[in-house]
Amino acid sequence: MCGIVGYIGNLPAKNLLIEGLKRLEYRGYDSAGIAIASSTGFDIERAVGRVSNLEAKLDGDTGFDGTIGIAHTRWATHGGVTEVNCHPHTDNGNKVCLVHNGIIENYAAIKTWLAERGHVFNTETDTEALACLIAELYDGDLEAAVKAALREVTGAYAIAVLCTEEPGVLVCARKGSPLMVGVGSGEYVVASDPSAIVAHTSRAFALDDYNVVRLTQDSIRTSTIHNKAVTPKVMQLELELDQIELGTFDHYMQKEIFEQPHALRNTLRGRVDRDEGRIVLGGLLSCAKELVRARKFVMIGQGTALHAGMIGEYLLEDFAKIPTEVEFASEFRYRNPIVEEGTVVCAVSQSGETADTLAALGEAQDKGALSMGIVNAVGSSIARTTDAGVYLRVGPEIGVASTKAFTGQVTALTMMALFLGRRRFLSVEKCKQMIGDLETIPDKIEQVLQQAQQIKAVTEKYVHRENWLFMGRGFNYPTALEGALKLKEISYIHAEGMPAAEMKHGPIALITDGMPTVFIANRGAQYTKVMANIEEVRARGGHVIAVATEGDTEIESVAEDVLWVPEVAEPLSPLLTVVPLQLMAYYAAVARGHDVDKPRNLAKSVTVE
Ligand code: M6R
Repeated sequence: MCGIVGYIGNLPAKNLLIEGLKRLEYRGYDSAGIAIASSTGFDIERAVGRVSNLEAKLDGDTGFDGTIGIAHTRWATHGGVTEVNCHPHTDNGNKVCLVHNGIIENYAAIKTWLAERGHVFNTETDTEALACLIAELYDGDLEAAVKAALREVTGAYAIAVLCTEEPGVLVCARKGSPLMVGVGSGEYVVASDPSAIVAHTSRAFALDDYNVVRLTQDSIRTSTIHNKAVTPKVMQLELELDQIELGTFDHYMQKEIFEQPHALRNTLRGRVDRDEGRIVLGGLLSCAKELVRARKFVMIGQGTALHAGMIGEYLLEDFAKIPTEVEFASEFRYRNPIVEEGTVVCAVSQSGETADTLAALGEAQDKGALSMGIVNAVGSSIARTTDAGVYLRVGPEIGVASTKAFTGQVTALTMMALFLGRRRFLSVEKCKQMIGDLETIPDKIEQVLQQAQQIKAVTEKYVHRENWLFMGRGFNYPTALEGALKLKEISYIHAEGMPAAEMKHGPIALITDGMPTVFIANRGAQYTKVMANIEEVRARGGHVIAVATEGDTEIESVAEDVLWVPEVAEPLSPLLTVVPLQLMAYYAAVARGHDVDKPRNLAKSVTVE
């Protein structure tokens, strides 16, 4: 999604803003632009494509030597990917200049109103309407004009605004799209996420919805669009620069797949006590009673997070015996769901900023549900608006294809299910056994990762095939969905995931000679059923790639290729079986020559509907 960086201080802003945009590249974008305040107005440059294209254009430009500026990476929503549609946008009189993330839903009505007042529009964007509206309402006070304009706006926004009449002022605001303010000494860095801030300062605060901040080099004032004063909660960013750097890896996705053992050790650290059979989750304590008494859980999320939520359903029902449903947040939010007393709505999200998940959570809260979050990004919107939650602690995830966040989410959900299970029906012995198994997961993932070269070789055998199927049962049905999603999003191969039993109800018609069909066939309650499905595929010429439990001799005689995972208790098996699928997707994308970390059309954090 779009990214914003803004700077006000005493350093030349240009390089700092470009550096910030590069840190936001992972979010996904198609063009970039920058504006620096100058003595005569704004120096503005825009470029389609990578930030490096913008940098190249700036090399030939004069000016751009001011110390206040705003910059943007755009992921097109309204209007094509053209230089003209690139942010920053100004009004006709070049008085106001702004960058914007989100969507101004009533932009057409605003444009009509502005056109009657003589404004002319040069772009196809919704953002230009907002720049013109602020200019129209400007009466000597930029902050007041921004607030007045935002009171007229419906939709989502994070904005950073400059005005020629107030050269030392930067005004920013947010509703629905994240925006953070880094607080340095004599300088402020504003950005969509902390990765663009942390090189300058580790002190920052997140703007809340409807908050506006007015910054000068040495002052800060935060209030709502309705002029209520707000005291910002400045926190220490725990992000280290090396966590967001590539190091010796070729891609962030590869780095994050290989980081999983370390990441999950962090997820578990200090939270599990095998000797006592106890789970310690501080973020659940304030609502523990309500959670334990819950009559129903509803897991919501999108994409990979939804798949983790689906595994959460199996875990909660198995360990805690709490009836659980899973739903796309995007569906939940609009279908007027029935939320009965005793319902807990649990949002699963890496970024904590996914627009649909956030809105679905709001819908559930309005209807009286207790809300909780399984979130990675500390201080994100979902983390801040839920009643209870568990942080993943897997560190920043930069690769668009989610990997370590998925295993972090499943691990957090497992701990949550054990936490509630122990307070309901789960015996201490069973809990001790599961904790013991959970603690072996990082080492076992390391064993899977040692087979990376073999997984690469298997992938390369099939990488020319345009259609793949992924199948699993029980706890590994969601893993099959996740394997298919990973493959399609970065290698652009068509893949479908499904419960293995569903194959006979239609998809079996797709199986042709040599079609790669990935079965998650680990030893578990439904192993013999999966084996029967494998035979059905083989009988129709499909090539079976099995993810199987080490030591299984039977599978070798029916599968073309086998990718091994160590033995583990079945409820925890997705934490291992997903790893070969992540690696397959990675190696397929590399073999096809795709830019793994910047997949076509995708954004890391989907902050618009
Ligand atoms: O930040 P979130 O976990 O809420 O994001 C949800 C999905 O957009 C995300 O998981 C997406 O499906 C990933 N690109 C999948 O790899």
